[in-house]
Amino acid sequence: MAHVVDQTASLLMNVTGLTNSLEAGFTKDTVESFFRFSVGASLGGLLLLAFLLTWRQISWWREPAWMKSIPMVPAPNLKAIFTGTVMEFVERGRICRTFMHADQPDLLRLNNGLAGGLFRDFVFVKDAKVAREIMEEPNTCKPDRGYRAFRRLTGYKGSPDFLSSHSHKDELYARTRVKAYEILMKRTIDHYDDLFVGNVTEFIARIGTEGKFKVVDEMHLIATSLITRIAFNEISESADKDLFQSAVWIINDMIARIANCSMTFLDFIPTPRNFELWAKQKLLIDTIETMIAHKRKAIAAGIPGDDIISHLCQDAKNSDRDLLGVLSIFFFAGFDTTSNTMSMILYHLANNPDIQEKARKDVFEVIGTDNAPKLSKIFHMKYLLAVIKETLRMFPTVPMVTREVTETHADGVCPRYKEETTFGVVLNFFGLHYNPKAWNKPNEFIPERWIDPSIDADRDPEQRLYCPFAIGKRACLGRQFAYIEMLTVVSMILQKYRIMPSKDGPPEIKIHEGGTLVVDHAMELALEPYVPGQVPAALTRASAPLNEPEYTTTEVARHHTLSDLWMILDGGVYDVTKFANGEKGGHPGGFEVLVAYGGTDGTADFDFISHSKFARRLMSRYRIGKVKDSHNLLVKEDQEKHILGEDIVRGRKRTTMAMAEGTWAEPPPMRNFKA
Ligand code: HEM
Repeated sequence: MAHVVDQTASLLMNVTGLTNSLEAGFTKDTVESFFRFSVGASLGGLLLLAFLLTWRQISWWREPAWMKSIPMVPAPNLKAIFTGTVMEFVERGRICRTFMHADQPDLLRLNNGLAGGLFRDFVFVKDAKVAREIMEEPNTCKPDRGYRAFRRLTGYKGSPDFLSSHSHKDELYARTRVKAYEILMKRTIDHYDDLFVGNVTEFIARIGTEGKFKVVDEMHLIATSLITRIAFNEISESADKDLFQSAVWIINDMIARIANCSMTFLDFIPTPRNFELWAKQKLLIDTIETMIAHKRKAIAAGIPGDDIISHLCQDAKNSDRDLLGVLSIFFFAGFDTTSNTMSMILYHLANNPDIQEKARKDVFEVIGTDNAPKLSKIFHMKYLLAVIKETLRMFPTVPMVTREVTETHADGVCPRYKEETTFGVVLNFFGLHYNPKAWNKPNEFIPERWIDPSIDADRDPEQRLYCPFAIGKRACLGRQFAYIEMLTVVSMILQKYRIMPSKDGPPEIKIHEGGTLVVDHAMELALEPYVPGQVPAALTRASAPLNEPEYTTTEVARHHTLSDLWMILDGGVYDVTKFANGEKGGHPGGFEVLVAYGGTDGTADFDFISHSKFARRLMSRYRIGKVKDSHNLLVKEDQEKHILGEDIVRGRKRTTMAMAEGTWAEPPPMRNFKA
């Protein structure tokens, strides 16, 4: 080997003429060793690549036949071969709308890349029966690799925490989870009237002063403030701000540079972006460490607090490092999810005045027009609860979780997992919540479905799995807290204000998809003091004409250019050529987005981006018929990556790849390999 390297190095030296560099003052030894090193490193790299490819091939051969038959999403580019299609599509912010949507097969395979996941592909599951089985396994585990991302919050300086613990039997997890949960709930009950409602009252008074409010930013602030006060008993504004700012920054960065989560070494390369990351991590760590130090001091002085940190500090087994991991995730999990969900609840209420009125009526009946809510009463607001549940169905803030399968599922869709052939399983909550086998009109916001069981009665209950908080042993620890927070904040807003779309805000809201769903912070709503009896006229969706022409998806697919542009929305066919060319002011998001979906079904995105009623009415002008068949299209996009807060990038190329017609029960393997 050394001989080959030497020979190649001297050949290259002659070819490149770099032997002349000897004349430039370098010693022969220096130049030779430089070349030897470069050639050795390149050969090493090639060998590693060959090893990875061979190993990958071997692992394909060893796969059971059922696994091979799962449709594979092809890697769109060379980078995706290395980092994996999961990473690629998460990074593009399209994973839910493109691959997790209800139209996709119940089992879909995305690969985990050569460099990222090393050989194990992910199976995205949206079959309710299988998803239920897997989450309810008594020994359910979370794959280490996927959850390592969260340790990025503390720059890997904290121990594994609730979220990234592999098994619920892990010592630190077992020691801290139950304790943290009990204290969170105890403090919520003990301090609901003073701390909780008091805080929300101040917040309500503040947001109404300007008539409109930046929903996402405000919701972040109230959620942060509630979790720090209730869980940590910290009322320092600067602690809130530091925790909030650094956690938000790191989470956004996580979404924007998702590949870093599996290739953690990328975080340690000194680049300007990483310097910023380190600064934010330091801010987060410093704030949490300061809190821990305060609590430890109070304990030493004999006046221990009743909050989570104080209780965990009193257990001698918990080091500061342990607490750093536990608390950072606690804070992250406790504000980002609820603030985004509350933003979406308010968005739906603003755009559905009739639903808003019903929810307000519910609030007035249960807690009154002006009274502060009581914890014993808030869960009696059945309609408001239904609004929250329906929002979480359509907008599962955590759209997917991953699990390792530890049990045999003989009659499941995934018939058998063994230790050595266990695949990463992604449970696709997004797809489950939009599954037409389970829900009637899954793309419509219908809170009544949570009150009137007849609405979904003709759907298959076996296929109905609603799990925004996951189920099983690793389900959300903050579920009750989240409901209490959302019911309290939204009911108090409804008591005081009428919520309306803002004329100044962007016409559409944008959702960013990463590991979680995030509402773009540009979203704005208008608030007006509530005056009883003033109900704005309900806007209704234009109804489709009867006996309209029918088109097949193949026919629609032919019209995909700017000069001849059709698309499918909710089973209707629309000729949007004039609109794309500027009629009625043109598409606010740019004509390119329309062209990107030309000839295809854009329902998922149209609904998901939550177009206003105005946009829906406008679209009805362009309706030319309805779809005859509805076979699935896998939309493969060439979208540049976008990060939180930036516009969806224009100029996407459109390539659609029709999946084979027919059932999804036994879809053809899409990967090019020999079984
Ligand atoms: C609407 C709000 C929320 C949603 C949709 C939500 C959703 C979820 C989901 C789906 C999981 C499972 C994650 C996984 O297995 O990968 C989870 C875990 C967790 N959540 Fe929440 N969550 C919410 C609010 C909260 C709040 C308010 C807190 C804290 C007070 C919290 C703390 C946690 C923790 C600590 C875990 C890890 C549990 C474990 O692994 O055992 N969550 N959450």
